Amino acid sequence: MFIPGSLKFLSLVLSWFKTVTPRLKVLVRALQAEKKHSQLAKKGDESDVVDPIKYNSGFGYVDEEEDIRVAKYYFKRFNDTNFKIRPIEDYILYEHSISELSKIIQSGDVEKVVNFGVCWGYIDDLLAESFPEVDFIGIDRSPAVKKFNDGLFHKPNLSFLACDIMDYLDGETSLETTLFWHQRIGALLPQDFVEILYAELCRKKVKYIVGFEPHGISMALDDYFMMCPNNHKESVHFRSGMYSHNYMGILNDSGYRLSRCGYLKTAHKDSDYSILTYRAEK
Ligand SMILES: C[S@@+](CC[C@H](N)C(=O)[O-])C[C@H]1O[C@@H](n2cnc3c(N)ncnc32)[C@H](O)[C@@H]1O
Repeated sequence: MFIPGSLKFLSLVLSWFKTVTPRLKVLVRALQAEKKHSQLAKKGDESDVVDPIKYNSGFGYVDEEEDIRVAKYYFKRFNDTNFKIRPIEDYILYEHSISELSKIIQSGDVEKVVNFGVCWGYIDDLLAESFPEVDFIGIDRSPAVKKFNDGLFHKPNLSFLACDIMDYLDGETSLETTLFWHQRIGALLPQDFVEILYAELCRKKVKYIVGFEPHGISMALDDYFMMCPNNHKESVHFRSGMYSHNYMGILNDSGYRLSRCGYLKTAHKDSDYSILTYRAEK
């Protein structure tokens, strides 16, 4: 037998469920995602557990699991005593990057340093220690990489953000006293990504751009790729999914002036391989 009062109560309960259930689902999904990022940040090198984020950009690594695997690999390689005795790319490169970035920060006109594609945040941590009055931000789209870095580094002037670099820039209005740098990531990005990125940095008034990017004999050219001042030179395939870009031309077109440029020889196993190192100013 239907009682109108109970029917009203029942429909109230049903509509309450209808409103609350989607919110609960969102909350549960967010909690599950958090759990996965933490598991990825903590787990060993074996590929067990979890379902990592798949990136739809297709640039660089394909998913979060690969990003955290590389961050842990760099960490492990650097802290391996044999590695320090037998210096390979990272050790020489890190010393160079720290020295180049320090020189600019010491000039006194930098308040913020943004590292695009930070991966393992060792360099950022050392710099944050040396320059306590400057803010350091390490940006990496992988939440597991952020958790990994958050667990290792605790300087008050150093933070790690898990987001896409373009989303970060969208949220900023002016970065006038900012030094923006990237290392071993430009090579993974297509030409138009670098062009759009540098143009956006100019719009946000970023003062300095610094790059440390792989260079060597391009597989496509069978020769070294040479940069030139105008940006009518197409990027070429360097090797294994990497590009050589005409950073000099792209910077000029974006409103930057290249003020320093050179090649750093590391102990990379390929004799032609070096790191293109450059600084540009607005
Ligand atoms: C090759 S690693 C760079 C490693 C580090 N810079 C170094 O030299 O040791 C590239 C990193 O960039 C991050 N990345 C790639 N595309 C990105 C994007 N659009 N926004 C933010 N981070 C990104 C990846 O998650 C990855 O950890």
